[in-house]
Formats: sequence, structure tokens, C-alpha cells
Amino acid sequence: MAYDVDRLRARIPALADGTAYFDGPGGTQTPDVVAAAIAGALMAGLSNRGRVTQAERNADDITVGARLAGADLVNADPAGIVFGRSMTELTFQVARTLAQEWGPGDEIVVTRLDHDGNVRPWATYAERSGATVRWAAFEPSTGHMTPEDVLSLVNDNTRVVAVTGASNLLGTRPDVSAIGAALASSDALLYVDGVHLTAHAPIDMEAIGADFYVCSPYKFLGPHIGMLAASAALLETMHPDKLRPSSEQVPERFELGTLPYELLGGVTAAIDVLADLVPGDEDTMSRRDRITRSMTALEEYEAGLHARLRAGLESIAGVHCHSNAPVRTPTELFSVDAVPGSDVYRELAARGVNAPAGSFYAIEAAEWAGLGAAGAVRAGLAPYTNDEDVDRLLAGVAEIAAR
Ligand SMILES: Cc1ncc(COP(=O)(O)O)c(C=O)c1O
Repeated sequence: MAYDVDRLRARIPALADGTAYFDGPGGTQTPDVVAAAIAGALMAGLSNRGRVTQAERNADDITVGARLAGADLVNADPAGIVFGRSMTELTFQVARTLAQEWGPGDEIVVTRLDHDGNVRPWATYAERSGATVRWAAFEPSTGHMTPEDVLSLVNDNTRVVAVTGASNLLGTRPDVSAIGAALASSDALLYVDGVHLTAHAPIDMEAIGADFYVCSPYKFLGPHIGMLAASAALLETMHPDKLRPSSEQVPERFELGTLPYELLGGVTAAIDVLADLVPGDEDTMSRRDRITRSMTALEEYEAGLHARLRAGLESIAGVHCHSNAPVRTPTELFSVDAVPGSDVYRELAARGVNAPAGSFYAIEAAEWAGLGAAGAVRAGLAPYTNDEDVDRLLAGVAEIAAR
């Protein structure tokens, strides 16, 4: 069924001022129903989780509901959905916990392609424990990283392979399923950073073969919070630092302090918006199946818009596209000859087009691609981007390049 971008746009108040938002890879704009769910949680009675008072039941129901929604989004076990402050915080926590078992001789594989949120936590705790970090590289001129680039570093000593589902800088989508399949028979745990990918494709962490899958709802129309998915059985084997009276249960064992219930309400609402991108069949299809249908339609829609964006950028003299891997999200990193990225960013912003420049915390990737910490300009499509947004971006870039 066709994807109706206008239907979604009508539900996003921020779009009313006419800004063209190409900064979705940094964080998306928010549908009214998501904001309403957050406000609704705060305006009803809300206490700590429990089943005695209505206010306790509200907090409990919201939490249980968000775990079910998160599980539907990535095809995971609801009992293994952990919420935390951000992907970065969750990854530090998992790395710190797993590192209790690491020592000299153990090895951790990270990649040059990844956001630092899926590099530094592993490198930090590897160093503290005496374990060795192995770095998988990508082809700097294209941004392509093959499964072999990662798997050639794996051996019997490998404890964790941390790899991105998609690069937030270049859009590269490594074949994580091939990596997962190859690791299935090994003891190494596969930790997939799905923060950038989850906004653009149907996700099935079981099909990927990921032991852990992390994402951030604020990248897919939701609030600023992080989500980790793993099997409850795996989480049971792990013992994070925690307070004495806090729950030993999984997944609560991993959730430090009181959860932001209002944001959890927003997570469920955002996932329901994704499920409803292609509307209908609520009574006959599971939410999981509706998410898959919608995200498949979104992926096709974004592919068409991406082709228009890429062809337009390539047609402008002086523009260089850095995103050249064979399989990518609709995210373009580009430079304009003789114009610093920070100037392109500012001049586009003056035209109501938000496309920032930088390395976006994918510092290793920017350096490995030869761009340095300054990176380049990033234009990322989001579920609400339309043809007119793309044409305005291209017109702005053409004017800047022609000066
Ligand atoms: C690919 C990727 N991984 C990780 C992160 C970090 O996510 P969070 O802000 O939830 O820590 C980001 C944020 O931009 C990202 O794009």
C-alpha cells in the first residue's frame, strides 16, 4: 500500500513553520499524539510502579506497554527490553557489566564506521580489564564495510563484536545479518547499534542474529530516551551495579533509578505512529505485522526520495558525495568545493533548511574517511520529508555552490 507522507506531516506541529528538516539522523520532529501521550501520562495520576493505587497502576501499565511496543518494533522478547537515558548510557552500562568477566587475552571487536557510542564504551572497559580491542576498517573512499572486514578479526578469544546497523554519518548499511549468521556458532556476543537504522527499515533482531540491539526512540518520532533489547535469558546472566533495594528482576535490574514513565508513554505512541504509517487492519493484524508493513512502505518511499536527492546533489558542480556504499539509508554526506561545511550549514539554515555539518560523534568514521573531525554536511531523510523539502535543499546547495 502507498505511503502517505502528507498524512504524517499533518500530525507534526513543528512542520507548520515551513522548515525543511534534514537533521532527522540527529533527532526527528514529534507527532502531536506522541506529545499528547507524554502530557497525558503527567496529567493523570502517576506514582512509582505498583498495583495498589490507580496512580501506581498507571505507571506500571505504561512501563509494561512500552516494553511490548519496543519488542514489537524490533522483534524481541518484551522481558528483555531495557529503557535508559540514551543509547550511549545503556552501552556504557552493558560494556561495564560484561567487562566484569574480561581479562588479558580476551578480545573485543569494534569498527571505524560506528558512532562513538558503540566504540568508546567497549574500548574504555577493554582497556580497564586488560582485554584487547580489534578495529574493523571500511573502504574510506566509499564507506563500504564488508562482513569479512569484521569477521576476519573474530577468533576464539572474541567476547563481543560491536557493529552498527547503519552509519549515522555515511548511511552505510553493513550486512549485519551475515555477521550475525557467522557468529551464531561462536561464543562472541553481537551488539548491534540500531540507532540510525531503526528509523528507516523494518527490524528483526532475531533474523539479524543480534544478542543485543540498541536504538533511540527520538530518532524515530519518539522522545529522548534509549532502548536496549536482548533475550531475558542473556540479561539474567549479567549483574550490573545496582542499589541494594532495587529490583533483581530482569529487565528492571538494568534500569537505575525511577523510569521516566511519561517518556515511556511517548515511546509507545511513537511506535504506534510507525505501525500506522500505512493505516488500517488494526483488528486483524498484529502491531508487529503492521510495523513491518509500514516500515517496508517507508523504506520504499524513502528510496525514491533518496534517488531524487542524490541525483540532484550529483548534478550540482562542485558538490562531492561521500556516501557511496552499495546498501545505504537515505542519508547523504556531502561537501561543497571551497565552502566549509559550517558555512553551508549556516547558509542553508538561513533558507529554512536544517542540514547540519560535522562528524556527528562518528569521529572514527569521519577521520577514517579522510574528512577529519569537521566531517561534512549531512542531509538525512525522515518519515515526514517530502519532494518539496528535497527541492528546497537542492536549490539552496546549488546557490551556495555557484558563488
Ligand atoms: C548511530 C548512532 N549510534 C548511537 C547514537 C547515540 O545515541 P544516544 O543519543 O541515544 O546516546 C547516535 C546518535 O546520534 C547514532 O546516530
